[in-house]
Amino acid sequence: MTAVPLGLLPDNATVADDGSLLLAGCRVADLAAEFGTPVFVYDEAHLRARCREAVDAFGRDRVIYATKAFLCKAMARLAYDEGLLLDVASGGELAVALAAGVPPGACTLHGNNKSIAELRAAADAGVRHIVVDSFDELDRLDELHAEFGSTPNVLLRVTPGVSAHTHEFIATGQDDSKFGFNLGNGDALRAVDRARRSAAVELVGLHCHIGSNVFDASSFAKAAAVMADFAVPLDLPELVLGGGLGVPYVEGEEAPTITQWGNVLLDACAALGVRSNVSVEPGRAIVASAAMTIYTVGTVKHIPDVRTYIAVDGGMSDNPRPVLYGSGYESFLPRAVTAERDMTARLVGKHCESGDVLSFAAKLPGDTAVGDLLAMPVTGAYGHSMGSNYNKITRPPVVFVGDGDARLVVRRETHDDLMITDLG
Ligand SMILES: Cc1ncc(COP(=O)(O)O)c(C=O)c1O
Repeated sequence: MTAVPLGLLPDNATVADDGSLLLAGCRVADLAAEFGTPVFVYDEAHLRARCREAVDAFGRDRVIYATKAFLCKAMARLAYDEGLLLDVASGGELAVALAAGVPPGACTLHGNNKSIAELRAAADAGVRHIVVDSFDELDRLDELHAEFGSTPNVLLRVTPGVSAHTHEFIATGQDDSKFGFNLGNGDALRAVDRARRSAAVELVGLHCHIGSNVFDASSFAKAAAVMADFAVPLDLPELVLGGGLGVPYVEGEEAPTITQWGNVLLDACAALGVRSNVSVEPGRAIVASAAMTIYTVGTVKHIPDVRTYIAVDGGMSDNPRPVLYGSGYESFLPRAVTAERDMTARLVGKHCESGDVLSFAAKLPGDTAVGDLLAMPVTGAYGHSMGSNYNKITRPPVVFVGDGDARLVVRRETHDDLMITDLG
């Protein structure tokens, strides 16, 4: 068995002379001592580099960062400072973006079941676009218009009937989906007609998103072709082709780069005669491999002829993806980055669930012991943002590292935080 593939680590991960891990010049052992474990550590220069790559590929004001992947005020500001707009999928995400100082005009509101309060907050703030998902939302926007006279700029989310090769729970472009107006059954065209005739909205474009963690560029090209067919005759100013670019999580996985994704989409749109502004909404591809989670090993349990369990001080509350989707992750010891991982163990968390698994067959060095720090790379997307307080476990802090400095951007929750909404 092999050492962890270094290509999965953040751009500025290096191996010190003693074989231990440095992230952007910070010793991981020092970060763990200062901030405790579990902790999410993001390489800030890596985040900025992915933002810049996306802006280079698609253009300024053509990249809308999907904040659901990872959101805190520092991340919202970083993305905005790098020239990205922000996709927010709830009133809560909008509130965080605005609190970070991102102008409302840089935000797009998403969601398949937006409440009237969320629509009102977005319209009042003056967001750039609301992406309308259903006829019921058009009804709610009519109500808001009747009450307040608001006329937001909207896109219509179209479900193109394209199946992305990804996990069922994160595939969204097929006909059988809760999202959007189906193209195949005529709903999309009916929605366009209604929005065009409506005084309650200004229809400025169309949107689609076929799914998340998609590795096959041809799925994106197929969706672009279907959308172009529909969009070109309508001649609307904006066409947003969603996010969904996958990233490698484990040894052997390969995904197109953001630049390659841009070439595929923009070439397809040009060839199909699209004259609208073409934008995208990447989340995972911006943040996933910028971060790793550092845990501490607390229990090593060998069951002869069965398996070895290694338990760390986090689990499904800081990374539910393995439980939700069976997602794979690599793991290694930051004290010995290039060590052969000659043991297979089930890496589990500290929650009261047998299903609390972080890696079903983790490769780790055979001398992994209680007290070791354990690093799990590529946890920057849908980890912290999907976290929970199950078992009243406090959410981990988030630390940004750069040029040898570490900056705490989200502190660890406390037991008092757990009771902040509990009225007794
Ligand atoms: C509408 C929309 N846009 C963008 C994204 C971001 O996807 P990803 O993080 O895979 O790029 C999602 C994720 O589910 C989404 O639903």
